[in-house]
Amino acid sequence: MTSNENIDLSQYPHIDRGLEGIVAFSSRKSFIDGAKGELIYAGYNIDDLAPKSTFEEVCFLLWHERLPNADELKSLHADLQSNRELPEIVENYIKSTSPKSEPMAVLRTAVSMLADFDDEARDVSPEATYRKSIRITSKIPTIIAAFDRMRNGKEILKPLSEGSLAFDFLYMLNGERPGKQAEKVMDMCLILHAEHGMNASTFTCRSVCATQSDLHAAVAGAMGSLKGPLHGGANTAVMNMLLGLDKGDDIAAFIKERLAKKQKVMGFGHRVYKTFDPRAYHLRKMAGALAKEVNMEYLYEWSETIVKVMKEEKNIDPNVDFFSATVYYSMGIKPDLYTCIFAMSRISGWTAHYMEQAANNRLIRPRQLYLGEKNLEYKSVDER
Ligand code: COA
Repeated sequence: MTSNENIDLSQYPHIDRGLEGIVAFSSRKSFIDGAKGELIYAGYNIDDLAPKSTFEEVCFLLWHERLPNADELKSLHADLQSNRELPEIVENYIKSTSPKSEPMAVLRTAVSMLADFDDEARDVSPEATYRKSIRITSKIPTIIAAFDRMRNGKEILKPLSEGSLAFDFLYMLNGERPGKQAEKVMDMCLILHAEHGMNASTFTCRSVCATQSDLHAAVAGAMGSLKGPLHGGANTAVMNMLLGLDKGDDIAAFIKERLAKKQKVMGFGHRVYKTFDPRAYHLRKMAGALAKEVNMEYLYEWSETIVKVMKEEKNIDPNVDFFSATVYYSMGIKPDLYTCIFAMSRISGWTAHYMEQAANNRLIRPRQLYLGEKNLEYKSVDER
């Protein structure tokens, strides 16, 4: 008996592998026009937000679906600043990890542990979820910086609990107060990665939320999804690819060879954008300026060659992960932290979607087409 003979296909009108084109939710958090290359967060185009806004303001926008007034923004800043310290046991866990540990795995585990020290962990009310969103958002930079310092044999720094999230992150990571320009670059990166429709990790977050599970669980799940190289893990893969090249290499030939071998070039292509990812425009500008500043123009030049070859050979444009890699590298940040920085930003989108899902919940439960056999005769183990 072959498996397909007994399938009643009338039960399954069609299968959408990868749920491509399926609209499973309505949302007020963001809009993507994949043909035009446009990204809007709750009404505001990222082309306006990136240069003019701040990550804190974007968090408020995604959570409340409107921009804050001055008092509201001040109050959110104060809440985010006052929640940055980690419970001692979480810090001890970070100290107990190996320098070889995968940063995203450490971050995911530490965020899970935070639930144990959060009195409202199991409270799924909108009010508790909002307060937890602030607390988790606030602590992620501390976790990332603590891990990086620990693995480099440096003293873990307490947050200054002042300034923006970008400012305190760079301080805790590098041990010195960042200048205005470095803070703005990091802040812009956080704005640009904050939210992006029904991507894989946001879908995971909403799926966990839909079972009425709590925010820490949903965020830990989303982090697991983000970490893959087809999603947020691509930025690290981009940098590793660039670092594997040498100054004398023929970059165009290298890319063509990859394509000929049917290998993907990380940081290119997108399920929704069929043109230049609008986030990549901003990151491209930053990458060019920063690479020049730190005498690594070659990195930017290689990147531009790769963009050209990918367009000519495959008509595929770069996505958010391509130029962000050069931006972070030029800032002296190690490649394996890039996905963590993505998470540090996307926490705002995940938590916003959690709030939205919880407010109008329906269990997420698709169907599958069974291809296996049926009614096999069971034989005890010694008969097999
Ligand atoms: N490099 C080379 N070819 C690529 C490519 C890439 N980065 N992205 C897509 N393609 C090609 C595929 O090989 C395929 O070509 P084919 O039809 O000749 O076989 C075609 O484009 C469609 O690709 P597919 O992977 O089916 O599209 P998708 O919608 O499932 O993929 C991504 C979207 C993001 C998963 C895909 O573009 C990708 O793997 N990119 C690299 C990883 C990455 O940068 N991820 C971050 C996304 S923000």
